[in-house]
Amino acid sequence: MTMAKNAQRPKIIGLSHMTFQSSSVEKALAYYRDLHGYEEQLCLKSPDGGISRAFVMINDAQWVELQPERAPKTDRLIQFGFQVEDAETIRTYLASRGVAVPDSISRGATGNLGFLVKDPDGHQVELVQCLADGWPARAAGRGPGPRALSRCLMHMGFDVFSMEKSMAFYRDILGCVELWRGSSDERTLSWVQLKLPDDRNYIEFMLYDETPTLERLGVFNHFGLEVPSIPAVMEEVAGRMKGSPWFPRRVEYSVGKCRHRLANVFDPDGTRAEFMERGTFDGSVTPPAAVPAPR
Ligand SMILES: [Fe+2]
Repeated sequence: MTMAKNAQRPKIIGLSHMTFQSSSVEKALAYYRDLHGYEEQLCLKSPDGGISRAFVMINDAQWVELQPERAPKTDRLIQFGFQVEDAETIRTYLASRGVAVPDSISRGATGNLGFLVKDPDGHQVELVQCLADGWPARAAGRGPGPRALSRCLMHMGFDVFSMEKSMAFYRDILGCVELWRGSSDERTLSWVQLKLPDDRNYIEFMLYDETPTLERLGVFNHFGLEVPSIPAVMEEVAGRMKGSPWFPRRVEYSVGKCRHRLANVFDPDGTRAEFMERGTFDGSVTPPAAVPAPR
């Protein structure tokens, strides 16, 4: 990679959203409202009066989107997105690097500008330029609500078949910078984390040996929410779960291999949200794993 190419790459300034299909958008919205405390939600209706798309605010530039299930018993992840400074310049840039892009950018359902590309695993990746009259910016004054446990989408994780191909896309073309890599079994790599080029938040490759089951995909295709204190969140979540016994799983606490305290919760379709503290629990850093990728 040359310096000139780096200099030409338009800025990617944040993680914007993840979009999941849901067997019951209403139930998922209740989960985000009641458990996560995300009260600011935008629902678009289909002609028959049902919800066609729903957006859950994390902050004025980050959200979770839910869409009605397209097919039962399939991967819940539909797309994820990055916030860019200028959608048109990054469209031109990606085209110059051989990425298939549409002929033009367009305004989406949220009123923001953007376009879609596909990553090496076929994930739909949206490059979003948030506009002041788009959502959630136009509702930013209200915020996600006083009960929101997190106001920061800290990382987005997704299944990756070939680390090498994903590195070529996310590192070499988009300009992400590797932060850390780890292994669950110390034999092959499990996770690679790459920081966005112009932001401190990151993406997480979820590498696998065997084709993941649907339950596993719900764990892989997930997002991290920054919280100041895991014990405080655990206590709050446990209390909120008592009031809603239909939440499908209990909260799972652990200290990750990355030494961050974290707690997992799952939406009604098994999609994982990972509460996480920004720093490691003891201030030290786990060295990156020196084992090979699964393939
Ligand atoms: Fe994660």
